[in-house]
Amino acid sequence: MLINRLSMGFVGGFIARYAIIGLGKIGTAIAKSLIKSGVDPGSISGSVRRVESIARVRRELPGVFVSNNNAEVVKDADVVILAVKPYQVPDALMPIRDVLTGDQLLISVVAGVTTGIIEDLVPSKVVRAMPNIGIVIERGVTAVAPGSRVSEDDVRRACEIFSSMGRCVVVNERYMDAITAISGSGPAFIALILEALWEAGLLLGIPTDISWELAIGTLETSAELLRVKRPWEVVEEVTTPGGVTIRGIKVAEESGLRGLIMRMIEETARRGREISQEIEGSIRSKVIG
Ligand SMILES: NC(=O)c1ccc[n+]([C@@H]2O[C@H](COP(=O)([O-])OP(=O)(O)OC[C@H]3O[C@@H](n4cnc5c(N)ncnc54)[C@H](OP(=O)(O)O)[C@@H]3O)[C@@H](O)[C@H]2O)c1
Repeated sequence: MLINRLSMGFVGGFIARYAIIGLGKIGTAIAKSLIKSGVDPGSISGSVRRVESIARVRRELPGVFVSNNNAEVVKDADVVILAVKPYQVPDALMPIRDVLTGDQLLISVVAGVTTGIIEDLVPSKVVRAMPNIGIVIERGVTAVAPGSRVSEDDVRRACEIFSSMGRCVVVNERYMDAITAISGSGPAFIALILEALWEAGLLLGIPTDISWELAIGTLETSAELLRVKRPWEVVEEVTTPGGVTIRGIKVAEESGLRGLIMRMIEETARRGREISQEIEGSIRSKVIG
């Protein structure tokens, strides 16, 4: 029998206590995944901003301690997960900078906020993570980037947490804007492509449900196949000389489909960088005064 490494909060060789600052959409998804992977709800505490959100969290996460007092939530934690909106970071961290310690590992999933900014705000060891929406079904893809104070063990521990919600890769923080574009925004782009495939079926007269089943089934099959084969191998296997697939490939090449997808990701990453700079400016001016 496989014993889950997160069972009872056992991560990296010790029983961990988790604090999640911001039990909104992503914070709640992380808490649910931790519990599903075997962490005792009693070893998780979390916070929200509004009193009325406490009842919602109690309903969604029975057994998890919830409060709107961040100091109370983080004081006994080994791992603190920061999951508030970027502009909420100073309000969430500034009042607890003396409660957080250098022994605690703070994992921020806040998009666009660098480990450098968070290290300026708190004494903790900081790791930045970019999970995608797939974590709600334990099929997430998460990139984890170390800050300047963490050890390899800390990074491994952060990656173990996200591995319980899907896959995790360790990256240099300078790739985070590109990663946000590929795996963060990626599910939206894949959804657009899938929708077009389904609508093409409708255009050619295939009944709605059947077209949907064929389109999504093909996406699933292709993803599985592409785990074991390179893209050009799949193309070669499907394409007969003088056959049907090569006709479609010609249209894709004539219309610059691959260049279009690359430009889409490039532009998304550029916007990520812009937002990151705006956020950094506003957080620094708020903190400095
Ligand atoms: N959604 C995604 O797919 C995704 C993916 C990767 C990363 N992220 C990042 O995750 C972060 C959270 O996103 P989200 O979509 O989960 O937002 P959200 O649903 O608005 O959740 C934010 C939570 O933070 C709480 N909060 C706000 N200020 C607080 C404070 N000072 N102290 C304690 N709690 C506080 C809010 O409390 P109330 O409920 O009382 O308002 C809310 O529960 C963002 O920075 C985003 O960039 C999101």
